[in-house]
Amino acid sequence: MKRDIIIAIDGHSSTGKSTLAKDLAKALGYVYIDTGAMYRAVTYYALQHGLISNNHIDKERLIRELDNIQIDFKYNPVKGFAEVYLNGQNIEKEIRQMQVSNFVSQIAAIPEVREKLVAQQRKIGKNKGIVMDGRDIGSVVFPGAELKIFMTASPEVRAKRRYLELLDKGEDVSYNDVLTNVLKRDKIDSERSASPLIKTKDAIEIDNSHLTREAQLDMVLDLAKKRINRS
Ligand code: DC
Repeated sequence: MKRDIIIAIDGHSSTGKSTLAKDLAKALGYVYIDTGAMYRAVTYYALQHGLISNNHIDKERLIRELDNIQIDFKYNPVKGFAEVYLNGQNIEKEIRQMQVSNFVSQIAAIPEVREKLVAQQRKIGKNKGIVMDGRDIGSVVFPGAELKIFMTASPEVRAKRRYLELLDKGEDVSYNDVLTNVLKRDKIDSERSASPLIKTKDAIEIDNSHLTREAQLDMVLDLAKKRINRS
């Protein structure tokens, strides 16, 4: 018997989680949700509303203003995935800037922010047929997910990917700054007290430092199909 499942993809930053998640969702006809984009949207809100200045985040005010933050996903048929909107504005491009990357891990460590976003993620995934990527999807959001993937790659490989991506978008950054940001985010994501990044026992680890996009997709698609056809 065939059934829809939940596929949770967690792992370090810039491991290509979203590339794999998008490819998988397309191949299976599933919905893809980038939960990192939700934490980035909150960070963008904080930057836009003067809640971050001189490297300091006004957490109390942000928590008070959480109800003013409406995050939605709308499918873009041209791009083939759902883009993120903040209070009705498409912010897909803005949330990838270095300024947002520099503060997002600290914003994602605020328990009240996580509580709000996790509740929304569970709502989005309640009918299954979903591929969700993030840091706590298999551990907190959907501990019962039928397939859990934990992705990793060396920090240098990840920084190089991110650096090339940013150059491609016309951002003026250095490789060393990107590597520093990757290492800093790894540390905050893994050491924070609220839902740290962990590999659950039932997650399958994939190190894609030397894997092609196609090889990675084939491997996970095969695992997904086995779970979909099992019941
Ligand atoms: O995947 P990303 O780089 O866009 O994620 C941005 C930040 O948000 C990253 O520092 C980790 C955090 N995050 C999180 O804590 N939990 C999630 N489910 C997704 C992202």
